Amino acid sequence: MTHTNVEFMSRSPEATQTFGKHMGQMAKVNDVFLLTGPLGAGKTCLTQGIVWGLGCQEYARSPTFMLATIYQGRLPIYHLDLFRIESSLELLDIGVEEYLEGEGVCIIEWADRTNDIFPVDSIKINLEYTRNRSHRKITIIAPDTSSGNLLHDLVAGF
Ligand SMILES: Nc1ncnc2c1ncn2[C@@H]1O[C@H](COP(=O)(O)OP(=O)(O)O)[C@@H](O)[C@H]1O
Ligand SMILES: [Mg+2]
Repeated sequence: MTHTNVEFMSRSPEATQTFGKHMGQMAKVNDVFLLTGPLGAGKTCLTQGIVWGLGCQEYARSPTFMLATIYQGRLPIYHLDLFRIESSLELLDIGVEEYLEGEGVCIIEWADRTNDIFPVDSIKINLEYTRNRSHRKITIIAPDTSSGNLLHDLVAGF
């Protein structure tokens, strides 16, 4: 599968949310967003925007005690945070396959805490700190599927 690698510089938390909102508006059934980057990089901030873009008004927070939070927008949204995970077996135990193969969209923070259980056409999004406190570099590796191509167009026009 070929991929497109695009970069976007966010200059504020609001810009990250707005960017996420556009992603949410474009999201399709079965899209899987794998979010990586250190604590405070903006993974949850981006998730808030994606959730809003999918038509849900709730304010997403990192699920801490439970592994998954489900939001209902125009599609179900499964928000996971793997920070505490020790093995991908835990994910299989909570039924992650149902989320991944279900009727909704998955947003997975700390996706690099485990690997090899996510679909090959997942959309990978890495957030990094830059020298400026309020800036974040957002790198998207999107497969050349319809959702991936839409994201490419989104970044080009942002
Ligand atoms: N450009 C930016 N994008 C996203 N968050 C930013 C940005 N600039 C500053 N921040 C701050 O960084 C923090 C990001 O927190 P959060 O989204 O919870 O990170 P993570 O989920 O990656 O641990 C928030 O306090 C937010 O206000
Ligand atoms: Mg978080």
